[in-house]
Amino acid sequence: MTSPFLWGVATSSYQIEGAPGNDWTAWEAAGRLKAPGTRCGVATDHRVRWRSDFLLLPTIGANAYRFSVEWSRIEPRPGHFDLDALAVEVERVELLQRLGIEPVVTLNHYTHPSWFWEDGGWENRKSVERFARFASAVSDALKGKVRRWVTLNEPIILVLGGFLAGWITPGRKDFGAAAEALEHLVRAHVAAAAVLKEGDSGARVGIAHNMLEFAPDRPANTLDRKLSALGDRLYNLALLEAIATGDMAWWFPGEGRADFRVADLPASNDFVGLNYYSRVHLRFGGLPGPIGEFHYRDRERRGLSDTGWEVYPEGFDRALERSAATGRPVLVTENGIATSDDSRRRTFLREHALVLSHRRTAGTDIEGYLHWSLIDNFEWLEGFGPRFGLFEVDYATFTRRRRPSADLFAALGRSFLSNGASVRALEAP
Ligand code: FCB
Repeated sequence: MTSPFLWGVATSSYQIEGAPGNDWTAWEAAGRLKAPGTRCGVATDHRVRWRSDFLLLPTIGANAYRFSVEWSRIEPRPGHFDLDALAVEVERVELLQRLGIEPVVTLNHYTHPSWFWEDGGWENRKSVERFARFASAVSDALKGKVRRWVTLNEPIILVLGGFLAGWITPGRKDFGAAAEALEHLVRAHVAAAAVLKEGDSGARVGIAHNMLEFAPDRPANTLDRKLSALGDRLYNLALLEAIATGDMAWWFPGEGRADFRVADLPASNDFVGLNYYSRVHLRFGGLPGPIGEFHYRDRERRGLSDTGWEVYPEGFDRALERSAATGRPVLVTENGIATSDDSRRRTFLREHALVLSHRRTAGTDIEGYLHWSLIDNFEWLEGFGPRFGLFEVDYATFTRRRRPSADLFAALGRSFLSNGASVRALEAP
């Protein structure tokens, strides 16, 4: 029996409700955001307003909702699980079920309990069993109620940003540390997937993988082209290949390499989660550090978004195709635009929905599309400026206001759910 196409939205816990005891709160307190005074606090107050936020889902025609559970709330001290925090997640899933919305639960969306880093975090091999223990507590609470799980959100970004560039927690800049972290993250995914499938043989598990389109900044420049191909391998392909074969080959010339085999990796991924936003241009600038110069350019004159990202739907097409080449169905776990001009969000939605519909017509196995995001939220290093929501959040009152793009999203959903996307609906004003 084929299950219906999933049409919905994605959020992450920290970005909509904050968390006092996690590493991101500590990162903010250390003044590490772009505006050092920025604090997430209660974010959009979703911890209080989650029921009414969930009631927005049927109004946009969603039949699926991706959200994350916050590790630091559930396991505030190593091995001590907060039953009240778990009960909140059960309540949430039950409300989604009553609304006819399929939950897609992310176990780790960038944040960790602060204690996790005390003895090395992902650099420590013990992280694998720690993550599995956490997965087991969540699985025990939600099993039978949740079918689709995302173990890790964007592990490659976590490794690049946290262990090579030092932009996000834990702020390391060391290839050896990055290589250790990558291997432990992959093994932690496999261990968590085993726990989830043991709890429920029907569980479907995947990783949400961020993909970017890569291009040479100077198209005729050989070094830029080489760099762009290398970026594509490291950032996009290495993980996809590992999912398909079990072999990870991740290397940076002049820095080092991480080559390892995780035999159970292919079987642990039932789908590929794809987070797609943009295209980057790489420019060789002398001796590149581990992360060279990258730029967002407005080459197609569509305009950059409020986070400065290029809108590039063509890259979405390629990312879908390449994800599916792993031999697994693709679930779009994120796609969206930060803009305070909602008409740009509507154009973005139409253009990306068109790509999605063409890919499906071409036979690519796509399980669903989850738009980022339901409501405006706290955007990591940027804070509250970028507006990604189908609903606007007024941060002075926490009022939610529906944007016109929410109507378009619902109309597109009707097309996708009824006949696999009619181009007429996509072209509606
Ligand atoms: C993705 C993250 C998500 C959100 C969007 C804009 O990389 O997974 O949390 O910040 O970018």
